[in-house]
Amino acid sequence: MKLCVALDMPSRDENLALVKQLNGLDLWLKVGLRSFLRDGAKFIDEIRQVSDFKIFLDLKLHDIPNTMSDAADVIAGLGVDMITLHASAGKRAMSEVMARLSKCQNHPLVFAVSALTSFSDDEFRVVYNDSLENSVRKFSTAAYEAGVDGMVCSVFESAMIKMATSQDFLTLTPGIRPFGESANDQSRVADLSVAKRENSDFIVIGRPIYEAQNPREVAKKILAQI
Ligand code: C5P
Repeated sequence: MKLCVALDMPSRDENLALVKQLNGLDLWLKVGLRSFLRDGAKFIDEIRQVSDFKIFLDLKLHDIPNTMSDAADVIAGLGVDMITLHASAGKRAMSEVMARLSKCQNHPLVFAVSALTSFSDDEFRVVYNDSLENSVRKFSTAAYEAGVDGMVCSVFESAMIKMATSQDFLTLTPGIRPFGESANDQSRVADLSVAKRENSDFIVIGRPIYEAQNPREVAKKILAQI
């Protein structure tokens, strides 16, 4: 299991200070929409100038197949190690993205978002008119068949996704509160023992690390547990 720290702090300077604090630890960094929109591709280079971390650029692409493939091509050109798209964009969109990326050298791992971890079952049903579990299974099967590398899901769906597809199909799980911290706006949260039991390959943790008094110590404590 790998730890991925979300760089979701309010400013570029605070995010870069966090990167420096975490330097040398065996973890990945996640750059999200806010930083990327504000600080641009230059921010990716700035992270690389001060560290050797692998970078997960979480832009959750969702558009028509051609537009998604064009965007994935550009993102691959940034040299990041992992990207995301929405499985609800459909199997054809996912297949076209994978086909396009296969032509790039060193293309990133691609994860498909099943259901955002902020959704409760009821909220999910209003949008997708199906149970969360059913939809996650359908989205995962489609993503697996489209050649995507893994799913973004809550820990509670990780084992089920692997059962429905393959044990080698990766899962990346946000909504982790390592030592039972506040859930904030997340609905389906779990601690490290659940993430381990459910066989999550990557855990994404933001606030419990960057809002801590000493983020490096919390990250080290998590790494020791996983
Ligand atoms: O602060 P917290 O640990 O809740 O951060 C979780 C991170 O994972 C955030 O950057 C959020 O955007 C991201 N994420 C998520 N649920 C998903 C996909 C990504 O919470 N389904």
